[in-house]
Amino acid sequence: MAIIQFPKDMKWGTATASYQIEGATNEGGRGGSIWDTFSKTPGKVLNGDNGDVACDSYHRYEEDVQLMKELGIDVYRFSVAWPRIFPNGTGEVNQEGLDYYHRLVDELLEAGIEPMCTLYHWDLPQALQDKGGWNNRETIDAFVNYSETMFKEFSGKIKYWITLNEPWCIAFLSNYIGLHAPGNQNLQLATQISHHLLVAHGKTVQKFRELGINGEIGYAPNTTWLHPYSNKLEDIDACRREVGWYIEWFMDPVFKGEYPDFMVEWFKKKGVELVIEDGDMETINQPIDFLGINYYTGHVARYKENEGLLDWELVEFGYQRTDIGWPIYPEGFYNVLTHITDRYGDVPIYITENGSCYNDEPVDGRVRDNGRIDYLQQHLTALSRAIESGVNVKGYLTWSLLDNFEWAEGYSKRFGIVHVNYRTLERTKKDSYYWFKQAISNKWFEL
Ligand code: BGC
Repeated sequence: MAIIQFPKDMKWGTATASYQIEGATNEGGRGGSIWDTFSKTPGKVLNGDNGDVACDSYHRYEEDVQLMKELGIDVYRFSVAWPRIFPNGTGEVNQEGLDYYHRLVDELLEAGIEPMCTLYHWDLPQALQDKGGWNNRETIDAFVNYSETMFKEFSGKIKYWITLNEPWCIAFLSNYIGLHAPGNQNLQLATQISHHLLVAHGKTVQKFRELGINGEIGYAPNTTWLHPYSNKLEDIDACRREVGWYIEWFMDPVFKGEYPDFMVEWFKKKGVELVIEDGDMETINQPIDFLGINYYTGHVARYKENEGLLDWELVEFGYQRTDIGWPIYPEGFYNVLTHITDRYGDVPIYITENGSCYNDEPVDGRVRDNGRIDYLQQHLTALSRAIESGVNVKGYLTWSLLDNFEWAEGYSKRFGIVHVNYRTLERTKKDSYYWFKQAISNKWFEL
């Protein structure tokens, strides 16, 4: 038996995203987003599901804040639907959209919960996509303008801001692999988009400083870890490429003002020509106040010629997998955190997402999601090891408060510590909710 203990001043929380929980897509003057379009395109989302109702948090936010208050969390990370604020991406502000987030934020503050606001969690206004989306540099200016509106409107109420959630997904999953909106499959396009996203992030941070907003700003890249099967250089390099695609590609520009050579060369080999305008790298290289880290999975892999984009294959060891099929690999969490600290120094880190998919249903009113509790225990143990090793962890937010619209998987995959019945919209606290509540109130748990 071991006691896993956490610093007294560490913050605890839960995370969600607008399109995944809000519903009410045709209410409050909201414009259409690329996820409305994508989910209504046949064959893109499992079972033809879409976010029209989702968890109906737009109407049930008071109940959801109540769930969080009872859970005892310090921070709630939510995202703002850009098309609620600017239905066409730019132009006139939609007051009803601002009003909704004021109601939510006021409710949180009243419950003693610090709001952490993500400005972009994937629901790009469709009107901007119609003009090229993130491939068009005008979208960068539209994003800065929308962010400025939010900063001014919520200054004094919201102290923690996140520009982008998971730029790897926005660029590559959505425009090269094609599984997410808008669903393109073009490496040149996706890589150029990754650059525009980083410029948008940098310009937004500049704007935040220029306005003198009282608070902290960062971004939340997704991470993964592949451990080399052997110490052969080809295995080590293959894993380094995969990790580098997520970590170095999206962090070196922010922390060092340059793209990593090994990835630049690899992309060049694949025919990618990145267009970088004068001043872009300086713009991206803005000091940030904290780094958000999203981590779910990792594995062991080795070199395999011509396999996928980066020439590697997984080695199957029989690691357990969650109900979405992702291997459970808590060592990867530790490795990601120590690697980032080694490479970028003592940057304050919030774990902005970590969690697991288990599809347990209520039986006699109780959801026995032991798989999720095990996952949490293993990953919080890895986190505690990282803290012991000097990683500057400020907080841990689990994904997710609620079961919700899991993008291309629709409602078939459940990540919540609270169960949602999608027919009645009834919420049921799972066993993991009670486990998490106990752990964060103690600031330790027993393994
Ligand atoms: C995203 C969430 C998503 C979760 C589980 C992250 O990639 O930020 O929106 O639901 O992982 O797939």
